[in-house]
Amino acid sequence: MKTIIPTPNNVEQTAGSFALVEGLQVYISNDHSELLQFAECLLKVLPKKDADARPKVLSDCEDRVDGIVLRLVDSADADEEAYSLQVTPERILLQAAGQAGLAYGVQSLMQMLSADFDANGAVIREIPCVKIEDAPRFKWRGMMLDVTRHFFHVPVVKKLIDSLHLYKINKLHMHLNDDQGWRLDIKKHPEFTTTAAWRDEDGNRYGGFYTQDEMAELVAYASERYITIIPEIEMPGHCLASLSAHPHLSCSGGPFKIWTGAGICEEVYCVGKEETFELLCDVIDEVVELFPSPYIHIGGDEVPKKRWSECECCQKRKEDEGLANEEELHVYFMNRMANYLKEKSKTPVMWDDVLEGGAPKNTKVMFWRDGTDSNIKALESGLDLIMTPTTHCYFDYKQAETDKMGQIGVVTLESAYAFNPCPDKLLGFEGKVLGGQANVWTETIFTLSELEYMVFPRICAIAESVWTQTARKDWKSFVGRLQGHYTYFDRNGINARPMDGVLVGA
Ligand code: ACM
Ligand code: ZN
Repeated sequence: MKTIIPTPNNVEQTAGSFALVEGLQVYISNDHSELLQFAECLLKVLPKKDADARPKVLSDCEDRVDGIVLRLVDSADADEEAYSLQVTPERILLQAAGQAGLAYGVQSLMQMLSADFDANGAVIREIPCVKIEDAPRFKWRGMMLDVTRHFFHVPVVKKLIDSLHLYKINKLHMHLNDDQGWRLDIKKHPEFTTTAAWRDEDGNRYGGFYTQDEMAELVAYASERYITIIPEIEMPGHCLASLSAHPHLSCSGGPFKIWTGAGICEEVYCVGKEETFELLCDVIDEVVELFPSPYIHIGGDEVPKKRWSECECCQKRKEDEGLANEEELHVYFMNRMANYLKEKSKTPVMWDDVLEGGAPKNTKVMFWRDGTDSNIKALESGLDLIMTPTTHCYFDYKQAETDKMGQIGVVTLESAYAFNPCPDKLLGFEGKVLGGQANVWTETIFTLSELEYMVFPRICAIAESVWTQTARKDWKSFVGRLQGHYTYFDRNGINARPMDGVLVGA
């Protein structure tokens, strides 16, 4: 379709068009009254209507000829996220077997309905007839938001979630602790939020955290939009904020000051001390209650081994467990926490760095380093992967060499669009690559406006890369469709970066 991002997987243009007239009705089948919310979304974007226009509930609604019909169909083996959308001169019929599918159909339809202007600037009054059968290529379509380097309050995250849903993203991974701050209230250990959530920035106190009520509110808000929030509790490195409140759980004993800058800190949790695991298991106990997500991310990236190699306690652990080196000690640490999560019926996710010490058990591995050989080795050892390579998915990187905003490398819109979570080199492992996600690290992102500049429009490119089959992707078509989405960005006050070489709105 001309306007939809991510572009649907099967589209058949048919003859004629559907007229968008005033007073158009939205019908839902009466045995599925939960469809009401979807119908109400659509009513909002239809041409002028009565102020009190309500969706109509009818058992024979699929036969109605004067409006938009939403219908949940019974199909035991259908993809929960799939939908079909048929536009004929008589009606628009949106059907799905699952509510998520219906929600995605509504997002596609909203995009079609709100494309107000055609190429000549005339208001669109007709939608060309079409038959769309759509389902996602990948089950994991994500974005990671780092709220540690800079903290983002609940309304900011909600605003982001609204747009993620429009683009059919279904996972929001929240990076909740690092060397620069701890961002989640843990009731058993108030020191996480009295101490570890706040840092000194040249005499000013900077920080913040989500209360458990606030996080529950976010989880529910996301869930209503078919987005699972996946918390990341980072360990055993990137933990200086936690160590500032628990210096006895380091190898050296501290004291520690929470970082204001970026980088990789040498301080890590001591793997030899049982109290380290006791504290982290207390945290996990509260995290698994708060987050219904089947996945819990436990970090595991960039763990310097210097402190462990110098620590008597850690060396004793290595000997007692018969481990060959500090890399294996890393895997030991991650496996212990992974097993604890398994006992709680959760699936752990960890960054690929852990593979340097051997394959961890019972986990999903999130690849941020694009070493195809190590991907293949991990897949061969039976692990499921989520792909998030720096080359395509790092939204903290600049969007052009000449941009001021952003750090380290460059990920252009075009390279984000070129992202393929399961390229030909990984053929044969399709089911084991769960999908991909964009990562928004926030060392150089301070405000909502900067956050939006770094996320939009690159998230549209990633969304299409994880939803749409490779053969259906087309860069030129994407760029053409994306121009229309600047109307959405403008209307919703989203500070999207303009596209290079395109005068948006011209
Ligand atoms: C990472 O970028 N350190 C996962
Ligand atoms: Zn130690």
